Amino acid sequence: MKILVTGGTGYIGSHTVVELQQNGYEVVIIDNLSNSYIEVVDNIEKITGIRPGFHKIDLTEKEKTSDFFRKNKDIAGVIHFAALKAVGESVEKPLEYYHNNISSLINLLQGMKENNINNIVFSSSCTVYGQPDELPVTEKAPIKKALSPYGNTKQISEQIIENTSSVSNIRGILLRYFNPIGAHKTAIIGELPIGVPNNLVPFITQTAIGIREQLGVFGDDYTTPDGTAIRDYIHVVDLAKAHVVAIDRMIKNKCKKKVEIFNLGTGDGFSVLEVIKSFEKVSGVKLNYRIVERRAGDIEKVWANTTFANEELGWKAEKNIDDMMLSAWNWENALKDKR
Ligand code: NAD
Ligand code: WQD
Repeated sequence: MKILVTGGTGYIGSHTVVELQQNGYEVVIIDNLSNSYIEVVDNIEKITGIRPGFHKIDLTEKEKTSDFFRKNKDIAGVIHFAALKAVGESVEKPLEYYHNNISSLINLLQGMKENNINNIVFSSSCTVYGQPDELPVTEKAPIKKALSPYGNTKQISEQIIENTSSVSNIRGILLRYFNPIGAHKTAIIGELPIGVPNNLVPFITQTAIGIREQLGVFGDDYTTPDGTAIRDYIHVVDLAKAHVVAIDRMIKNKCKKKVEIFNLGTGDGFSVLEVIKSFEKVSGVKLNYRIVERRAGDIEKVWANTTFANEELGWKAEKNIDDMMLSAWNWENALKDKR
């Protein structure tokens, strides 16, 4: 069974390729390498012993995308990770984000439809919930007005898949990720932030290893037990495994609706200070941090109700916050040796 993974050399994509291969799937990757490196293909092969197919294609290029599908009609399903994902940058460059994330999806769906490829798993985000009225947040919670063009591309993409599926054979599983962190246990693949990281965990590990001087903790006056913001962090390998389950479900015709939606988190919330504490415990490194102003646009607290994913998909996140932080630290150390 051949699966197309778009964005397969990226952070979550690469971990998913490994899990797919280890579950017997043949994988072909499309990536334009705008936020990843070709060496990731070698690194995937180092872990699994199998080299995935790779095509350097920009999915915003319609002709190249449809040409790929014409030559690969035997694809059983598509997992669509390819997108630009920096929230702050999307505010600065809205047209780039709408163009990249929306045209890619449209070209992909058109290529799929033309070649009777009907299964798509889509990378969505808990960002669609904004600050939920009730916690933990379920898939039935209302979608809130997006706080950034990036967030809006996720909402629009979900609607594009819904609308397309209602008039075609296309079926979708929309996976709403909470906060993916950590790296593969081999420390051969992981997150490769370009420039100054926006996200908490790469900032922590880069500070601890001496690349950054100090972590700023964005606000300690939220209405949370220690005043810092709470998120549902999930190990990237747990997340990757959920994609294998989702693709299996589609291929085996087990979906109960044309479009299904699942939250992917652990169901537990951790504050920024709790994450730092876990990092210090597993690494033995004292982190240099100080409390600074809140970051504009940040929400106070969000964590997932994962009951639907646990019961319906039969998937559950297994790794805890210490596992996540240790794997992120091992990865940072492996990167140091490569620098
Ligand atoms: P990533 O940047 O590491 O991977 C995305 C990959 O897509 C990159 O390799 C990039 O080169 C590629 N790409 C981008 N535009 C492309 C295009 N037009 N054509 C071909 N390839 C293109 O990001 P990631 O963290 O692995 O995220 C994967 C997906 O998950 C994204 O859709 C992202 O929005 C979503 N997501 C990520 C997070 C997170 O915190 N990392 C959370 C929720 C949702
Ligand atoms: C986590 C917590 C920060 C950096 C983003 C996107 C979201 C989704 C996941 C894609 C927050 C705090 C962070 C720092 C800090 N991505 N923090 N100092 O903001 O929950 O979500 O990534 O869909 O859409 O918005 O993740 O890792 O940036 O922040 O104190 O230097 O860490 O305030 O509470 P976030 P994050």
